[in-house]
Amino acid sequence: MNSAEGFGKSLSFGPNAAQANSASNRILNAKNSRLVKSPEKNDIIVEEGGITIELRDIRLRYPAQEAPVFDGLNMAIEKGQFAAIVGASGCGKTSIISLLERFNEPEKGQILFNGKDISEVDIYTYRKHLALVAQEPTLFQGTIRDNILLGIDSSTIADDQLHTACRDASMNDFIVSLPESYNTNIGSRGVALSGGKKQRISIARALIRNPRVLLLDEATSSLDSESERLVQMAFERAGKGRTMIAVAYRLATVQNADIFFVLGEGGKLMEKGDHMELLKKRGIDYQMCQNQALDN
Ligand SMILES: Nc1ncnc2c1ncn2[C@@H]1O[C@H](COP(=O)(O)OP(=O)(O)O)[C@@H](O)[C@H]1O
Ligand SMILES: [Mg+2]
Repeated sequence: MNSAEGFGKSLSFGPNAAQANSASNRILNAKNSRLVKSPEKNDIIVEEGGITIELRDIRLRYPAQEAPVFDGLNMAIEKGQFAAIVGASGCGKTSIISLLERFNEPEKGQILFNGKDISEVDIYTYRKHLALVAQEPTLFQGTIRDNILLGIDSSTIADDQLHTACRDASMNDFIVSLPESYNTNIGSRGVALSGGKKQRISIARALIRNPRVLLLDEATSSLDSESERLVQMAFERAGKGRTMIAVAYRLATVQNADIFFVLGEGGKLMEKGDHMELLKKRGIDYQMCQNQALDN
């Protein structure tokens, strides 16, 4: 007799089978009730309108590097704000996104979401609060619907939720103009989408998850100016009711942000404030505007 058989027998046929069963039920129930309680205890307390984000004295160093990317970085973003992080290539913008996504852990310091240290929250539970739109949209062969719902149970999403996400991503009108609408195949066997449309599908994919925090990492940097304008409009709608952080090296994308963080060399926070404040101070942001004016 192997041990599995023995275990089954003692539960089913033993003299105290009923007692054993009710005891094991109690254990299971106790476990279940802990599972129900844990989200309140270990999760971020989420309210309407987004999440307050604070980076406190962050130090980050990549193993291959001698100097840390950040050493004592502090940032505070209020609930529902649209925050822009700008700065030259290599200054650490994507590193902030990867800290927020918890792809990297800080060597020192804390990241607080609504006052809660994110490292104390189960990573899967934590990541449900976020969605990321990166520079290069990743689409798969399949229908537009499949591409937007990717990874979520489609039976939990009503059609009007899908349409709302696409409307907010400035994509619904185009999709419904296609003969097969949301069932249109994309990719090499379907319609070819422009960069801007692909990016707007990525935005719809992020929005359908109804994240409390939306992260955008140079989401418009590979677009022409017309597509950039549409995507930018989509961001403005997407930012309603949530906290949004957009990383950019061009100011045009983020000109309507509520707060700007300008990162300088060595991951140092050079400037912080709303756009006009920064312009008045004629700091790095001002120089970026000047460079942009020269570019156009
Ligand atoms: N995974 C990594 N390993 C080692 N160094 C990295 C890694 N990711 C980024 N870096 C370095 O960290 C610095 C900041 O990079 P990054 O956050 O990507 O900047 P940005 O997004 O502003 O261009 C750069 O010097 C970059 O080379
Ligand atoms: Mg980057």
